[in-house]
Amino acid sequence: MSIPKQVTIVEVGARDGLQNEPKVSTTSKVRFIDELSLTGLKCIEAGAFVSPQWVPQMADSKSVMQQIHRLPGVTYSALTPNVKGFELALEAGADQIAIFGSCSEGFSQHNINCSIAESLNRFEPLMVLAQKHHIPVRGYLSCVVDCPYDGPTAPQSVAMVAKKLIELGCYEVSLGDTIGTGTPQRIASMVDEVRKQIPLHQIAVHFHDTWGQALANIYQALTMGVNVIDSSTAGLGGCPYAYGASGNVATEDVLYLCHGLGIETGVNLEKVAEAGWNMCQQLGKSPMSKTSLALKAQRLRPKS
Ligand code: HMG
Ligand code: MG
Repeated sequence: MSIPKQVTIVEVGARDGLQNEPKVSTTSKVRFIDELSLTGLKCIEAGAFVSPQWVPQMADSKSVMQQIHRLPGVTYSALTPNVKGFELALEAGADQIAIFGSCSEGFSQHNINCSIAESLNRFEPLMVLAQKHHIPVRGYLSCVVDCPYDGPTAPQSVAMVAKKLIELGCYEVSLGDTIGTGTPQRIASMVDEVRKQIPLHQIAVHFHDTWGQALANIYQALTMGVNVIDSSTAGLGGCPYAYGASGNVATEDVLYLCHGLGIETGVNLEKVAEAGWNMCQQLGKSPMSKTSLALKAQRLRPKS
């Protein structure tokens, strides 16, 4: 299998990134998403309709979704754990939604307060509504390599739950290495099991970079033909229910890798980096992306 010629980037910075940041104003989120919309990204996760008691950082998702300037051809999606979340996302004008489950029981309980089986039952009425309203549904699976509560996840368990999400009606399953402990060999075994159960074109990867392995793991997935990659501008983020989990792989780093491999993304790296610098300035932190830092250094270099 050769690497794909074209890759779709799913930008999750405004959701996965900012769900971990306590003090970001609605205005800053809207500006961030508006800047990302101008980069060529076609899929932007703009918020989450989850319990505000659980994740207060996402409580303004409706205002965010209603204030952004939507660009034609860009899909603005939101996370929804249940029917209530779906109804709120619909009201806010989400083009697409994502349900999120886990392949480990411990994380399922901690993240969505129910077992894996209960979560799948809970998704059923949501899927019926989504179909009625013609809203495409993406499925996330967390802890596809290791779980912070249960330890290693068997690749067969990942494949089994991924298959269930597709059977429920998800058009794609995004495989989340939530705590970023995966290494290429383990990613290869896991993707290999999953692709026995669901078609390759319905597989996306969502790697957090906690242990610095995300790019290597993405390269591994690319060599297996995966062509949808989730990433977060400036490498923002983490998961409130996975202690110590740091941000997603940075969009800038994924773009640099893909472009270097001759893979088309349709996304302008410099514009993404600028959106990241602006958001990082608001947050008072530096981008986690090496590519972003290198671009900044290049800009600041005195001209000879
Ligand atoms: P629960 O407490 O079991 O929910 O939480 P409940 O159904 O018993 O309801 C309790 C209260 O919450 C009720 O209000 C509901 O109305 C309200 P009350 O009657 O007490 O006033 N409620 C809601 N409010 C707003 N929106 C909703 C909603 N649902 C219920 N959608 C629940 C269960 C799933 C709601 C909760 O556990 C939750 O919101 N969890 C989300 C946690 C989360 O957002 N985690 C981060 C995102 S996942 C992630 O980052 C991983 C990913 O990136 C992939 C990877 O990296 O692995 C996707
Ligand atoms: Mg995540």
